[in-house]
Amino acid sequence: MQEPATRNIVEFEARSLLMLCRAGFEGDAAAEVMAIAEDTAGVAGYCETRSGTGWLQFHAVTGSINTLLNARPDWRDWVFTRQCISLITRIDQLPPGDRVAAILEQLPDSPREFAGLQIDFPDTNDGKSLSRFCRSFAGPMRKGLAQAGHGLGNGASAALHLFFVDSATVFLGLGRPGVTCPWPAGIPRLKMPRAAPSRSTLKLEEALKVFLSPEEQLARIRPGRHAVDLGAAPGGWTWQLTQRGMRVQAVDNGLMDAQLMETGLVDHVRGDAFRYRPSRPVDLMVCDVVEQPMRIARLMGQWFARGDCREAIFNLKLPMKRRYQHVLDCLEAFHAAANGESSAISVRTRQLYHDREEVTVHARVTRRG
Ligand SMILES: C[S@@+](CC[C@H](N)C(=O)[O-])C[C@H]1O[C@@H](n2cnc3c(N)ncnc32)[C@H](O)[C@@H]1O
Repeated sequence: MQEPATRNIVEFEARSLLMLCRAGFEGDAAAEVMAIAEDTAGVAGYCETRSGTGWLQFHAVTGSINTLLNARPDWRDWVFTRQCISLITRIDQLPPGDRVAAILEQLPDSPREFAGLQIDFPDTNDGKSLSRFCRSFAGPMRKGLAQAGHGLGNGASAALHLFFVDSATVFLGLGRPGVTCPWPAGIPRLKMPRAAPSRSTLKLEEALKVFLSPEEQLARIRPGRHAVDLGAAPGGWTWQLTQRGMRVQAVDNGLMDAQLMETGLVDHVRGDAFRYRPSRPVDLMVCDVVEQPMRIARLMGQWFARGDCREAIFNLKLPMKRRYQHVLDCLEAFHAAANGESSAISVRTRQLYHDREEVTVHARVTRRG
């Protein structure tokens, strides 16, 4: 007999996806989903995008959304998509007097039960003005769902997502565990630590949260382990690593934060990231050098080829155009530079919330060559 949780996933067959991304990157997210759909999943479809909105839709013409999502079963595998929701429908002109009823009317017969209710809005200036409205809508919506016999929790696997574009327009969709990012609108809310030397610190904090599970962080980013930070000054990334007890070689001609240096965990190496080599292999190398992305990708590959590190987190600054293709080209250059090791290196690339015109790459040797 099928488990109820499994039934919830297969009962509803979406024809479209709602995808959230950083505003201005809708075309890049579209290029990515089109490539995955056509080249990997064998699903033909098209995208609807409007630049600057922070969201887009993919519509399947042949093949199913589930087939497409099977090619991207983990939300962390998307580069430009922050959040991925199987679309039920879009409702325009919600009646201000009874939005809840209008939404309930459009819910499919199954699933009846939802793992939770998530209400989001676009990550734009206009979108942010909806924040209070969305918060106050949660109570009435939950009540409406309960009165209409829709359970929340109860072991169901798909969560109900409402994405308001404005107070009269909403997308209804389903979020599947693993496929859909667990954070509202795909955004991890991090607090700027007072003692950190730069705001950049949040990029590495987010990268660790996205690419490593809490258990992996405890096992690998810990006292007794060694890291190199290329382009370290003033020390926001180094600070994240020392907070977890790692010893760090900080490579940069710029000045490091004095308080960070007092921890005794940091060696400041005044030098060029493209020439520096560690005296012995390190557990983790991170790199935030602002340089041509192709040059960075090759440098990172060389570190793996020489066995100077087994894990790395690095940023690639993006060009203005054809950014998805450029990311693919850089990753190819990384693998080429890593030589024979490349098949044993697992790589994930994502435009993090705290990234701007850049993406962050996590690479790790998963098997000894
Ligand atoms: C974006 S900042 C790094 C910020 C740092 N991650 C933090 O959290 O404070 C880029 C740094 O790269 C350094 N940089 C640029 N080219 C470099 C090179 N060839 N070698 C070493 N450092 C370099 C700059 O001096 C600058 O401090």
